[in-house]
Amino acid sequence: MMNDNSVVDNVTHLIANTPLVRLNKLSAASNCTVYAKVEGFNPGNSAKDRSAKYMLEQAEKKGLIKAGSTIIEATSGNMGFSIAMLCCIKGYKCILTVKNNASKEKLAMLKTMGARVVLCPANVDSQDPVSYYKRAEKLAVEIEDSYYLNQNYNTDNAAAHYHLTGPEIWSQTKGKITHFICCGGTCGTLVGTGRFLKEQNSAVKIIGVDSFGSALKKFHEDEVYDKKEIYPKKVEGLGKDIIPANYDRAVIDRFVKVTDKDSALQARQMCKDEGLFVGYSSGSACQALRQLMPDLKTDDHVVLLFSDHGSRYLSKIYNDEWMIEQGYILGRKLAAV
Ligand SMILES: Cc1ncc(COP(=O)(O)O)c(C=O)c1O
Repeated sequence: MMNDNSVVDNVTHLIANTPLVRLNKLSAASNCTVYAKVEGFNPGNSAKDRSAKYMLEQAEKKGLIKAGSTIIEATSGNMGFSIAMLCCIKGYKCILTVKNNASKEKLAMLKTMGARVVLCPANVDSQDPVSYYKRAEKLAVEIEDSYYLNQNYNTDNAAAHYHLTGPEIWSQTKGKITHFICCGGTCGTLVGTGRFLKEQNSAVKIIGVDSFGSALKKFHEDEVYDKKEIYPKKVEGLGKDIIPANYDRAVIDRFVKVTDKDSALQARQMCKDEGLFVGYSSGSACQALRQLMPDLKTDDHVVLLFSDHGSRYLSKIYNDEWMIEQGYILGRKLAAV
């Protein structure tokens, strides 16, 4: 929150109150009104600032951490950056276990913010002792005065979005929102925001976006945790190889699966169409909207949540060579761009 002179005491006061931006090209294509909640405007450039701040504040209130404690988290990068930023201000040490497929920019940013980064293999079972979850658990046991925030199983993650993101979107749309489309990873953003919106109007459709290679959609539809659904993917942040405690069947109307390629192409299109330099999973939200277009009506008001900023993907979706290597664009397009 800003004080009277619009001066803030430190960077953490700039978390939340992100803009809702009308997406003109997507509104025209959908024949309804489409907005984006642009979370890249948070100081840590992602929605994770909200949940990191809230989870740390709750741990402080419960007396679980004090200045000098070590905060540990298993993270795909964004939560890590938010925690590292907050640790700088609050005087905590920070250790992050990160999958070794995270982008180079993300890793450099975490280290720059003073975090110790422990790289873990990306494509191993969640129960494997070398998985980033298990490494985080083990470090929390080994290191004295440490605390594993555990964004997947800590329901203060979703509570942050219930108290912040949901009310902001409700007020910014003046209660007109009919559909909320949001990527699901820990499901904190999707479920916390969705729970608040459903409480205001139970007709609001809460739509989760899942990746191929994730167990979430099948679990939601069939109540089956199917390991065959889990395989390597390129998109970062959405999709899960576990069922997090922040997932809540009662809040989510449906999941839509999107491909890595469509997500990458849609993120690049968003830059050109609306001048919004957004992250890879924001492209996933756009692609989900495209897949849902036949169901939308003229007076619908759709909000897409754009989780993070494009600067985190310069070596991936915003690098033509990477796109060509993946087969997402043709090599000869390089000369034409
Ligand atoms: C870029 C990005 N998009 C989407 C998500 C999913 O958000 P949540 O964990 O709140 O479900 C994440 C989570 O790490 C993310 O980093």
